[in-house]
Amino acid sequence: MESVNYDLSQVRSIIGSFRSKKDRYHDLVFYNSNENLRKLFSNIDLKDKNVLSVLASSDQLFYFYDKGVRSVDTFDKNKLTFYYFYLRKWFIQYKNKYYITKVNRRMLLKLLSTIKVESEDEEKALYFWKCMIDSYNIKSIFNLFIIDDNFKKNSIRNCKRIKKRLEENKLTFYNVDISKRFRLNKKYDVIYKSNISDYVCNSREVLETYRDNLDSLLTDDGIIISSNLTHDYDYSNEFGVFSEKFNYRLLDNSIGYVYTRR
Ligand SMILES: C[S@@+](CC[C@H](N)C(=O)[O-])C[C@H]1O[C@@H](n2cnc3c(N)ncnc32)[C@H](O)[C@@H]1O
Repeated sequence: MESVNYDLSQVRSIIGSFRSKKDRYHDLVFYNSNENLRKLFSNIDLKDKNVLSVLASSDQLFYFYDKGVRSVDTFDKNKLTFYYFYLRKWFIQYKNKYYITKVNRRMLLKLLSTIKVESEDEEKALYFWKCMIDSYNIKSIFNLFIIDDNFKKNSIRNCKRIKKRLEENKLTFYNVDISKRFRLNKKYDVIYKSNISDYVCNSREVLETYRDNLDSLLTDDGIIISSNLTHDYDYSNEFGVFSEKFNYRLLDNSIGYVYTRR
């Protein structure tokens, strides 16, 4: 559990009373997605696709499961998203609840005591959350999250399909920064990069690495979907650098872009 203890020390840096310096692979976690996933993907065929998605709050992963994709692998530079996924998985599996609401210490302890661990990763997550409850009150734990008040837009009332997919599939998670060089021996039909471009450095060198990572992960006829929440693309170099390898078009609903191979 050495790596989990390190992650817990990073949590202490983020929400503890004594805030020391954290590294760049640990940060606040999105409690829910601030994007309208239903609207964003309304005209995109996801059926039976192999998807690579940012993990973030896990809303994206659950959305793709609910839409009947074949598989979803995930990535995020924030390692804490991995632990949050398991907490959400348990709420869906054991409590039929899509979001983690009406939480108190007793209820969380009871939930954690009923988890049937199915993998080494799940065991690590269980250890992580038990330590969290031992170390912090619920209010402090919630300081770890960035919360978007509009829950309705991505909430899924009937979790049956997601529950089944969670039973059948283990989480595949890559703790990588997509703007730094890395290689996987896999290709995806759909890559969802959310609004990560809002956070990526605008230099040509970084954008080329970011672009080449995505290029190496995409099938020949695959698509990359990017949402545009805050970025002013008129001043970004991304399209200039990406257009050397990809065509891009604004989605009909104007809340994102689709990139395809040139
Ligand atoms: C793009 S952010 C913003 C929230 C997003 N709009 C949503 O609805 O979830 C979501 C996630 O992207 C991750 N992220 C940001 N930049 C990244 C990068 N360069 N590589 C990998 N993950 C990144 C963050 O850690 C965060 O968990």
